[in-house]
Amino acid sequence: MFKIRPLKKIRTSLEIGGDKSISHRAIILSSISQGKTEINNFLHSEDTLATLQAFQNLGVNIKYNDFQKKVSVEGKGKYLNSKNITLQMKNSGTTIRLISGVLSAQKFSSTLQTYFSLKRRPMLRITQPLRQMGADIKGRKKGAEEYPPLKIKPVDFLKGIEYRLAVPSAQVKSCLLLAGLFAQGKTSIIEPYQSRDHTERMLKIFGAKIRVNRRLISIEDSQLQGPSEIFIPSDFSSASFFIALATLTKGARLLLKKVSINPTRLGFLRVLRRMGAKFRFININKNYFEPYADILVEHCQLRGTKIKEGEIPLMIDELPLLFVLACLAKGKTQILGLKELKVKETDRIKSMEYNLKKMGAKFSVKEYLNPQKEKDWKVEIEGPAKFKDASIKSFSDHRTAMSLIIGRLSLGREAVIDDIACIDKSFPEFLITLRKLDK
Ligand code: S3P
Repeated sequence: MFKIRPLKKIRTSLEIGGDKSISHRAIILSSISQGKTEINNFLHSEDTLATLQAFQNLGVNIKYNDFQKKVSVEGKGKYLNSKNITLQMKNSGTTIRLISGVLSAQKFSSTLQTYFSLKRRPMLRITQPLRQMGADIKGRKKGAEEYPPLKIKPVDFLKGIEYRLAVPSAQVKSCLLLAGLFAQGKTSIIEPYQSRDHTERMLKIFGAKIRVNRRLISIEDSQLQGPSEIFIPSDFSSASFFIALATLTKGARLLLKKVSINPTRLGFLRVLRRMGAKFRFININKNYFEPYADILVEHCQLRGTKIKEGEIPLMIDELPLLFVLACLAKGKTQILGLKELKVKETDRIKSMEYNLKKMGAKFSVKEYLNPQKEKDWKVEIEGPAKFKDASIKSFSDHRTAMSLIIGRLSLGREAVIDDIACIDKSFPEFLITLRKLDK
């Protein structure tokens, strides 16, 4: 058991580590581009290091200075000259799904191994469309689904397809866009709802032939040429824990610096605004390929709201935290379209239900048919809850752990949790950053 002592006051400014999604993409695209790229403010975390190490093992010369958060990559061009290889994806879903798009087009075989939690995450969503493109990729079959490890063999060529995503997933979209860079003819992807667009933005600055028309994205065979330098703004999902903490804590006023304000990541803020939260952007830098700003947040009492299916992909990683906020808000909150939460690092509906009910919240989960007539899940929360003292079970999931720690600390209480190592997956500096609030 780990104990995190209560915070004294929240009246300061913070800088949080680089964005996880952008860090992965910066390594991938600079590795397969021509020329050298300097990446600044790279996120040091288990997941992003899995991508960095995979490309090093594929023969790309990558130098990493973790103290300065700088990575320098000597691009190899699209075709990597590795021998047949086994790569370790650790627990990083973004690594395995994105890299599969690149490896499906290479002239060598690859096997993608994973650690425990990723072994249970579905891969048919990428293997099936990649096979339609002509790739030779197989997962471990179980029922109708496929899971890691993935085995990829070389094929003569990939062909472009038109593909309507069954799930609004940025990882699947990105995998297919990367494969589309190598394919004969055009690859077009249609999203049911918009998801984060970091891959599209970065492909543009690397000179790819990509067109985005709302939820239709097309790409053609392209050579990539890097911009020589990339700055990665702070991770919005990590910042959201501190936005929530300042919102919930009486007397709080917090400035978060240079945070990514990519509109496809801000669903959480739009919902918070409806709930009555008090925040504003200052020092806005809109012109960079990934916009960023400082976010000033102040305490305020929240009220319940309703969240529909189409809003979910734009706040997918903030949902456990939103559950906590909804428990402490006045009135009822209803959140629809939660089925993707069941296939994250753990089933996040179950992990949050378990902990929040133990803490005394009124939290109910229901199955229903969504507008696409698929089986889906919704959550209803009645607040405000008076959280009881109960230790937190992380289910080895970083976002479950951090969301519940924030819930406890915002009430001026100590947080007791079974495991904190899982936090290193996305935000190793989480606890250190919390303590900076005391200074
Ligand atoms: C990510 C996309 C999301 C998100 C994950 C990172 C990405 O996953 O949950 O943390 O970097 O593309 P899905 O695309 O599977 O929803």
